[in-house]
Amino acid sequence: MKTLRVKEENVLPRDIGKRRFLNSLLGLTVISGVAGALYTVFKFLFPSERSRGIEENLVKIAKVSDIFPGRSVKFRYGRYPCLLVNHNGKFLAYGALCTHLACIVHWKDEDGCIMNMGDQIHCVCHAGHFEVLTGKVIAGPPPSPLPKMNLRIRGGEIFATGWDDPNYVKRINTYA
Ligand code: FES
Repeated sequence: MKTLRVKEENVLPRDIGKRRFLNSLLGLTVISGVAGALYTVFKFLFPSERSRGIEENLVKIAKVSDIFPGRSVKFRYGRYPCLLVNHNGKFLAYGALCTHLACIVHWKDEDGCIMNMGDQIHCVCHAGHFEVLTGKVIAGPPPSPLPKMNLRIRGGEIFATGWDDPNYVKRINTYA
C-alpha cells in the first residue's frame, strides 16, 4: 500500500508537467496565429509600396535644388546609364542608351556637347534626335523611342523608381 502511494506521487507531477507544457504549446500556437492574422490585416490596411506594384528599387539621382531648369544629369539604374532632365521645371528621365547602336545620348547642356538641339535629346554618333517630353524619335536612324524611367520626388530629392514599361525595355536590342 505504501509503495503504491509513492508511485502515485511520482506520476502526478510528471502528468502535470506534461499538461502545462502542452498548454503552453497551445498558447504559443494561438498567440502566433493571432499575430499572423493581425499582421495580415495590418498589411491589408497599410500596403507596402512593393505590394502596391511600385518598384522597390529606388535609386537616388540628385537633389531637386541641384538640377536647374535646362540642366541634366546622368545616373545609373542597375546596369543601365540613364539621363535625368529638368525641362522647364518638369523632371523627365530616360535610358541613355541610344536605341540605334547604344551610344550614350545627351541633353543640350551637357559638358562636351557642342550643339544646342533645342528641346531634344540627341545622339552624336549618327545624329539621332529624341523628343524630350516623350522620348520619341524625331530624326535620325534610331528605330524606337528611348525607354522612360519613372521618378519620384521625396524630401527634396529625386529618385528613379523603375522603367515605365519594363516589357518595352526588354524588346529594345540595345538594352537586352
Ligand atoms: S547610335 Fe545613336 S544614332 Fe546611331
